[in-house]
Amino acid sequence: MKILLFFLVTLLATCHGNVQNHEHESNFNIFPLRMKTGPGGKYIPEVSCASWRVAVEARNIINWKTVPQECEEYVGNYMLGDQYRADSKFVNREGFFYARTLNLKDGRDLWVFDIDETTLSNLPYYATHGFGVNPYNETLFNAWVDEGAAPALPETQKLYNKLVNLGVKIAFLTGRPLKQKDITAKNLKEAGYHTYEKLILKDTELYHGKTAVQYKSSERKKLEEEGWRIIGNSGDQWSDILGTNTGERTFKLPDPLYYIA
Ligand SMILES: *[C@@H]1O[C@H](CO)[C@@H](O)[C@H](O)[C@H]1NC(C)=O
Repeated sequence: MKILLFFLVTLLATCHGNVQNHEHESNFNIFPLRMKTGPGGKYIPEVSCASWRVAVEARNIINWKTVPQECEEYVGNYMLGDQYRADSKFVNREGFFYARTLNLKDGRDLWVFDIDETTLSNLPYYATHGFGVNPYNETLFNAWVDEGAAPALPETQKLYNKLVNLGVKIAFLTGRPLKQKDITAKNLKEAGYHTYEKLILKDTELYHGKTAVQYKSSERKKLEEEGWRIIGNSGDQWSDILGTNTGERTFKLPDPLYYIA
């Protein structure tokens, strides 16, 4: 024990030359022990990009247009590696843990899913277009959507299957424009989303000038007015789960690629 104490004190003194000046403070101040990032606190891009991603997911950073240039590699590794999949799994698993506690009876319990980066993944597109570093290019992105080749996000598909088995009804609510309805329906079916009650795309005339929050709130309100109970709501954007009629519980999937207000 004495040796350990000696070691700690030595470490404190080494890491933080002023340690004697702080003796009047709490003995449990461990902050001088924090890991240094090198001489003078060297800038490590990995560390700040991880912080950037957390701030984005927590919606502390809003209205951002593109991924910071220096984070392209970080975001690419995150999206293509295990962490994105693990994070997606965690979110969807919580959705299932919640859903299985519910007493479902009259067939009016509805789960609202967003589509892009929620049920379908556009990672094949973003992997070849700079992982969100390049500004959004509507022409190129629509051409990709029109291929109808987006794979399912496997972790969300698992939740979808479990919900369908529980008897929960499914609605898809997406910011994709109405003119992409046929290709979206085909893409969903081929990716394994076979059954659903509603596939709602954005009427761009009706919602001209409106935010995603306004559009999605309004469409969810219509669903509730039709007698659906929105028991769950999953999306990768905060605009999927903010606003009104958000559902009894919301589930935010990770997305460090883009931000939709
Ligand atoms: C989108 O990409 C196409 C093809 O690379 C390019 O011609 C066009 O200028 C881009 N549009 C914008 C707004 O950047």
